[in-house]
Amino acid sequence: MMKLKDGFDRTIDYVRIGVTDRCNLRCFYCMPKEGIPYEPKAHLLSYEEIVRILNVLGQLGFQKVRFTGGEPFLRKDFITLLEKTHALNYYPNISITTNGTFIVKHIEKLKELGITTLNLSLDSLDAERFKQITRRDDFEKVIHAFHTLIDQGFNLKINAVVMNGINTRDILPMAALAEQYPVSVRFIEEMPFNGGYKQNKTVYSAKDILNTLQEQYPTLTRKSGNHGDTSTNYAVDGFAGDVGIIPAFSRTFCNTCNRLRITPKGEIKTCLYDGGVFSIRDFIRSGVTDEALAEKFMELVKIKPKDGFAAEQEKGKSLIRKESMSTIGG
Ligand code: GTP
Ligand code: 5AD
Ligand code: SF4
Repeated sequence: MMKLKDGFDRTIDYVRIGVTDRCNLRCFYCMPKEGIPYEPKAHLLSYEEIVRILNVLGQLGFQKVRFTGGEPFLRKDFITLLEKTHALNYYPNISITTNGTFIVKHIEKLKELGITTLNLSLDSLDAERFKQITRRDDFEKVIHAFHTLIDQGFNLKINAVVMNGINTRDILPMAALAEQYPVSVRFIEEMPFNGGYKQNKTVYSAKDILNTLQEQYPTLTRKSGNHGDTSTNYAVDGFAGDVGIIPAFSRTFCNTCNRLRITPKGEIKTCLYDGGVFSIRDFIRSGVTDEALAEKFMELVKIKPKDGFAAEQEKGKSLIRKESMSTIGG
């Protein structure tokens, strides 16, 4: 099967699509408390446009799609988009990253579509701290979703952003979730979005997280992963699940990066850290053929930087990223 290669011989076959910039939570590492000015619907890629893009990417050898947001289930008829994506038959793995607050009512439909692996964002098991971090009172809802999904046999990856001094004390209680349940609890280095980067701020690094876990669990053993994984996972004796670490800020996985991103308003990002390089929305709306669309994607993949953070740094750009992660898709 055809596969696209970028300029650094990396195979690019995973697309992340942010379906909405809206979110019902206000996690402070992602959005300001007053929210962000949301894009009007006409500025977003329509479902028809997304499906057309996914069809073209499928022909170019893409095999994995992840829908993110904002909160993807907030967009009207999101299930319809899942159905249409499923019907393309290009994507054996349709993945979703969600905050879990709306998911319970969609469980049957997700099962029908074979979507049984979900990434659930949850940064603390302490109700008060959850509220402090998300600025909303939805802890019980998310915990209920967690238990329901487990009972229904879903494979869950829990995404916990580690914020220095704020929820570092939650690392061990969160890790203990994987002792009891067959889930993967992944700790993520905080990234400098939503203006969250300060010159003197010390990120609680992947190494710090590993040390914390190792001290508590001396039997921690590195597991082999899949090509392109962002997380390095570890088994612990007696655990039903495992723990993982995502060096999102240190970026030690760029050499195996396999992804392309599309923001809710149709900007292509060849790297999470690049500024957005092309409006595929405007290109589509100019009336192009599928062939032209495919050629454009091939062109864009070729300009994917080796490491977008370093590339922006070299251009002398500020590392203080004002934009909300919900406008990018994480
Ligand atoms: P899997 O597909 O299950 O491996 O998940 P994922 O890590 O690709 O996706 P998810 O949406 O769960 O993201 C988890 C964390 O990894 C988030 O904080 C993302 O922002 C971060 N992340 C995902 N992809 C990249 C990337 O290409 N570069 C960097 N630096 N971080 C990333
Ligand atoms: N740093 C690290 N991860 C982040 N996410 C959102 N903002 C940040 C940030 N500043 C995570 C969310 C979600 C995933 C898509 O990205 O927690 O799980
Ligand atoms: Fe919403 Fe996710 Fe951003 Fe939190 S990180 S505010 S759940 S989009």
